[in-house]
Amino acid sequence: MVKAIVAPSILASDFSELGCQCKKMYDNKADWLHVDVMDGHFVPNISLGMPIVASLRKAIPKEYNDKNENIKFFDCHMMVSEPEKWVQPIAEAGGDQYTFHYESTKDPLALIDLIKKNGLRAACAIKPGTDVSVLYELAPKLDMALVMTVEPGFGGQKFQVEMMPKVEKLREKFPHLNIQVDGGLGAATIGHAATAGANVIVAGTSCFTASDPGEVIQLLRDEVNKNLKAKGLYSE
Ligand code: DX5
Ligand code: ZN
Repeated sequence: MVKAIVAPSILASDFSELGCQCKKMYDNKADWLHVDVMDGHFVPNISLGMPIVASLRKAIPKEYNDKNENIKFFDCHMMVSEPEKWVQPIAEAGGDQYTFHYESTKDPLALIDLIKKNGLRAACAIKPGTDVSVLYELAPKLDMALVMTVEPGFGGQKFQVEMMPKVEKLREKFPHLNIQVDGGLGAATIGHAATAGANVIVAGTSCFTASDPGEVIQLLRDEVNKNLKAKGLYSE
């Protein structure tokens, strides 16, 4: 069973005030923080690396609820060419989930094992040009699948609605899997993602530029939960 998870992407934040801006997202009831790591090789952009993740974790320590879940969860989206290399460093820096790109590794199953051995949750992302069927074999071992709704590398791009059939297929085959969408999500596009069955919503620009981020986060959450309930898939 699944529920809405809203994850503001820190790529859209003011990096000179990163700690404050991230705390503000949690104060506004964000479920996770989405941490976009880019190496300038896998994608044509460089964002942030281990020292920043570690500093952020120092500013926002892990905190557990009564279900023993860390409610200051760092969802690390690794847009890097050698994903194997950064698993241990991300674990040491205080990450919670490691999302690698299917296109970046020769052996996704071995990578999933490595991620889990390091105490992280394992997730796999596909770029817009990658067929969703590559995830079918991996999904039973994954904590989450990420269907990119823009070409990875930059925030503020247009949501690709044509990716929604991938989400629909995944939801049909794996009703209880966390399915994330990333890129161009906000009030105008959430309806498409929620109807298709996505439950983990990354939102950069729409959260960080909002005058009231709490309102945007709640709107995204409500739309997802409404659709999960209609499908009989919602659970706390
Ligand atoms: C793009 C990143 C996204 C990005 C989303 O490569 O993976 O997480 O920050 O930004 P918005 O929500 O602005 O499209
Ligand atoms: Zn991302």
